[in-house]
Amino acid sequence: MLSTTDAATSVVFRAVNHRRSYSKVSALAPTRAELLPLVAAAARVADHGALRPWRLLELRGDARERLGAAFVAASACEGSDALKLAAKPLRAPLLIAVVASRRASFKVTDWEQDAAAAGVAHLLSLLLDDAGWCAMWRTGPLVRTGPVRVLHGLGDNEELLGWLYVGGIPEDSKPGVRLSIDPEEFLGVL
Ligand SMILES: Cc1cc2nc3c(=O)[nH]c(=O)nc-3n(C[C@H](O)[C@H](O)[C@H](O)COP(=O)(O)O)c2cc1C
Repeated sequence: MLSTTDAATSVVFRAVNHRRSYSKVSALAPTRAELLPLVAAAARVADHGALRPWRLLELRGDARERLGAAFVAASACEGSDALKLAAKPLRAPLLIAVVASRRASFKVTDWEQDAAAAGVAHLLSLLLDDAGWCAMWRTGPLVRTGPVRVLHGLGDNEELLGWLYVGGIPEDSKPGVRLSIDPEEFLGVL
């Protein structure tokens, strides 16, 4: 077991501490081949019953435009507001939709399965960051609307948890402002 000092300098500790979200990204994106090992590693998340209650979808190129059109169809927007909404998915070259796919189980409730699916998204964000990519998990008010569901081909057992917006580090990127917490406040004792 690592001492507290060694743990604080471990590769994993540093990767977690270094991770940040990027609201602006460059046009570079990982290829599918580059993504696959990261997805495999993210699947190591704690998963009650090993149900794998999740799936991911890559949205590149015009798939992002179709998502923009689904946002517009789901909203009451028109004119310039509709144009702005339609452009939202174009903020990154790659969006990874995170789908919670609840499996039939007497033992594992839906919320436990959703926790595993969310864990995959968090791990994948971390792995992307560690691999030198930018990622930001985004949702928005239209994530669970009919047109967006239809576009992603969701089944009755599925819910969208949002998208990881993924791209390269922009040249003008500034260090992110990260607020630290006081762990004493968050770690109680029963
Ligand atoms: C489920 C989920 C949905 C989110 N949706 C949005 C969003 O729609 N828009 C947004 O600005 N941030 C959203 N965030 C927060 C960002 O992903 C990010 O965590 C936040 O900007 C703080 O940056 P940091 O990750 O570098 O600390 C979401 C986070 C989670 C976990």
